[in-house]
Amino acid sequence: LRVVHFTAELAPIAKVGGLGDVVTGLARVCLARGHDVTVLLPYYECLPQDSLEGLRHVMDLAVPKGRFWDGAMQNGTLETSVFSATVAGVPVVLLRPSAASGSGLFKGGRIYGGGYNETEAYLYFCRAGLEYLAASGATPDVLHLHEWQTCAAAMLYWELYHPSPLPSARVVLTIHNMDNTGEVRQDEFAASGADGAAFATIDKALDERTIGHNPERLNMMKGGIVYANAVTTVSPSYAAEILNGGAAGWLRGTLTRPEVRAKTRGILNGIDAEEWNPATDARLPANYTSEFPEGKALCKAFLQRGLGLSESPDKPLVAVVTRLVPQKGIHLIRAALYRTLERGGQFVLLGSGHCDGEFRRLAEHDFRGHPDVSLNIFYSEALSRAIYGAADVVLVPSMFEPCGLTQMIGMRYGAVPVVRRTGGLGDTVTDVAAATEPGEGNGYVFDGTDEGSLFSALDRALSDFSSDPATWAQLSRANMAAELSWGAAAAEYVGLYNAAVGVA
Ligand code: ADP
Ligand code: GLC
Repeated sequence: LRVVHFTAELAPIAKVGGLGDVVTGLARVCLARGHDVTVLLPYYECLPQDSLEGLRHVMDLAVPKGRFWDGAMQNGTLETSVFSATVAGVPVVLLRPSAASGSGLFKGGRIYGGGYNETEAYLYFCRAGLEYLAASGATPDVLHLHEWQTCAAAMLYWELYHPSPLPSARVVLTIHNMDNTGEVRQDEFAASGADGAAFATIDKALDERTIGHNPERLNMMKGGIVYANAVTTVSPSYAAEILNGGAAGWLRGTLTRPEVRAKTRGILNGIDAEEWNPATDARLPANYTSEFPEGKALCKAFLQRGLGLSESPDKPLVAVVTRLVPQKGIHLIRAALYRTLERGGQFVLLGSGHCDGEFRRLAEHDFRGHPDVSLNIFYSEALSRAIYGAADVVLVPSMFEPCGLTQMIGMRYGAVPVVRRTGGLGDTVTDVAAATEPGEGNGYVFDGTDEGSLFSALDRALSDFSSDPATWAQLSRANMAAELSWGAAAAEYVGLYNAAVGVA
């Protein structure tokens, strides 16, 4: 199969959260199975040049890009340079608006949050990707879109590129998170070089049952869902949550339609077993495996020393690696910090995001130089690995979580997860007390959103760590050996691709 991904993130060069990990992991496993996979990515100004292997200029394009002015659409184009490179073994095509255009799109030091208009930038990106495919003579079987940023490609493809010049492609949309579905004014849609009127008709037709949706705006995710041949989300439980309305937000009406339900399903993410491997991870001070786990104690001592914590092998080390946004259960992360301390453990946080202010204050004042607390309010891939390597417990108390990767990465590095039962967290973690078969329990699970519920799981984890080290060590080793890789998910995606293109 020839699969082309459209994405705003790609690990490790353009990663903000799990989206980047998933696109790279899925692309790699499909490549390994012999499929032809290409990833289209904006050429963000902040991409690390030295990670773009074999970077070369492929072609220049004039990408249609209009604007709506004085009640009329004014057509124009944006000169675009196309580059190719290899990233983590994955062929990548980078689309860059010309510097001379002064558009400013994708400029700045960050993946998101540059000084430009994001809806304009991603509408342009969707159009540029399709223009590139048409100009290069590509014949993709599947256009695999991720998140609202790339949803316009579904609408543009079916309206403007099918059956010519791209006759055979089918569109798969993966929803990683319904928290942000991307809204754009109808006139702003002109940034894609197309009039938004056709999409507005579709948008409005679905509106009567779409609660709270601003009728003046087009919802990108909704357009993607309607125009895609198949829709996936990143765990079976989150699929149920969005289809049953609970997590669907403004798109509740769309997701209750029978034709949408019929083409939507959950496929549980994996993690890249090579990328996340304590046996080979060069950024760990010592490597280890489930058979020879001794190196993990060295990793813990190294992290404690490095972060200025007391070097105490016997204190349970609770770790949180996260974007600090409301989704992640900020109040429960804070409550866990104090509870862990009360119970004689150590707490390490690595996170950043628009809710990081309070943790920044705690880091600079209350817990500055504290022997059992380390709050690191920034993004660091290297520190995240050192933390996973050292952690006894990885905590994920999310309010909602489409899949969640950190509980799985933590397990792979021998930590035991404490999670709230929501979305993919419930699909990947079974409470040791609820397990019906030996080896089934792999962590601690709670349900409520209050501190008491959190403590019901965290307290058990902390006391099991201290009171029964032998059972804990067994659990840690079993988690390291658990099958969390992309194998099963890849088979499901390939099956879905085949079904979409009509191969039995
Ligand atoms: P989300 O995609 O909602 O952020 P996931 O659990 O799916 O949540 O994925 C988070 C990914 O981002 C993991 O690979 C995690 O290690 C990484 N990550 C999150 N915050 C940081 C940070 N501050 N520094 C380094 N890596 C981080
Ligand atoms: C999103 C979700 C997260 C998921 C990730 C990768 O960012 O918040 O739960 O694991 O995408 O699919």
